[in-house]
Amino acid sequence: MSSKLIAPSVLAADFANLQRDIEMVNDSDADWFHIDIMDGVFVPNISFGMPVLQAISKHAKKTIDVHLMIVDPDRYIKTFAELGSNILTVHYEACTHLHRTLQAIKAEGMKAGVALNPHTNVNVLEDVIQDIDLVCIMSVNPGFGGQSFIENTYKKVKQLKELIITRGANTLIEIDGGVTNKNAKALTDAGADVLVAGSYVFKSSTQIETIKDLKAIANS
Ligand code: DX5
Ligand code: ZN
Repeated sequence: MSSKLIAPSVLAADFANLQRDIEMVNDSDADWFHIDIMDGVFVPNISFGMPVLQAISKHAKKTIDVHLMIVDPDRYIKTFAELGSNILTVHYEACTHLHRTLQAIKAEGMKAGVALNPHTNVNVLEDVIQDIDLVCIMSVNPGFGGQSFIENTYKKVKQLKELIITRGANTLIEIDGGVTNKNAKALTDAGADVLVAGSYVFKSSTQIETIKDLKAIANS
């Protein structure tokens, strides 16, 4: 079985000490940087934009996984590629022509991801799953860190795993929101490959240890 990955969400980092927090992730057992971009339209919050991502990219030594919570993401695909994104995830709910958007992301040399809001059934991806490198199942309503995990997520992970197997797709399942040591194992047992963790990692007083433990639990 391939190893389960941990992606700390930089949204929960200390922005006054951003370089320090990026280096902490570089030095840890974490696998990816998860970067949340919010536009205040698709979600009721604004996080940060291009200059901050550029600064992160300069120091990050691991895969940069960008989660776009924005309307009309097609406008910025090229820009995010230039800023060093390795994986670009768009929201299903924000894309009228999802298949076209996925091809455009890949044409820029990035892996293509699709995020699903808690109310969106995984079956909507049935006819496009083979074109998706990563599905991000939102286990909170997007917009804020530090929310509680929605229990219905387990059912969605199992359904998505089944869909991926049935269609012979090679798609990773990522879980985003409210991930802690309490739900990590149940999530990976259900079929999750990547766990995003924001508050749980950055609010810890022993961040490196917390990441190490979370990864061990996810792979247990
Ligand atoms: C929510 C973001 C998440 C968030 C996770 O809109 O997409 O990535 O940063 O934060 P925690 O782990 O605190 O729920
Ligand atoms: Zn996210």
